Amino acid sequence: MKVFLIGFMGCGKSTKAKQLATRLGCPVIDLDAVIVAQEGKTIAEYFEAYGEDSFRELESKTLKTYPYPATCVVATGGGLPCFFDNMEWMNENGKTVYLQMTPPQLVSRLHNREKRPLLKGMDDEKLLAFIEMKLADRNPFYNKAQIVINAFDLDAETLEERLKAN
Ligand code: S3P
Repeated sequence: MKVFLIGFMGCGKSTKAKQLATRLGCPVIDLDAVIVAQEGKTIAEYFEAYGEDSFRELESKTLKTYPYPATCVVATGGGLPCFFDNMEWMNENGKTVYLQMTPPQLVSRLHNREKRPLLKGMDDEKLLAFIEMKLADRNPFYNKAQIVINAFDLDAETLEERLKAN
């Protein structure tokens, strides 16, 4: 089983992916980290050098061509489900889990904004307005996930139980 964790920046995809993979005894794959290793650039540097459109193409290609082991947990970038047919591809190739949080919860968790090119230089007030707007756009994609779970204070055991129940 391949598990794809999706959701907005700051919802805890990378951390939850590591914890869940430990529980399942399987590898964890962080697609942003795969791109960073492959390109030799941070995501912010990649955006700066080639722009967002090029990043979205590369992100989609990486999602669809990565040599996944049969069982693994995959952390995806926050925008990935919302471009091309990425969401459909994940639903066909694994189990998708939307780690849902409210905009104020996300603001409280997004401290390191400089490494995220879309959030650079935003104060709390601007960030809250930005998240509310972006989430309205992105929720129709995120909600195509097979499992939608409240991710605030979510522990890996509860996440594993939900996966096994579905
Ligand atoms: C993005 C989220 C980031 C990264 C890029 C764009 C987005 O991943 O892929 O900065 O559009 O929401 P995280 O969700 O892991 O921060």
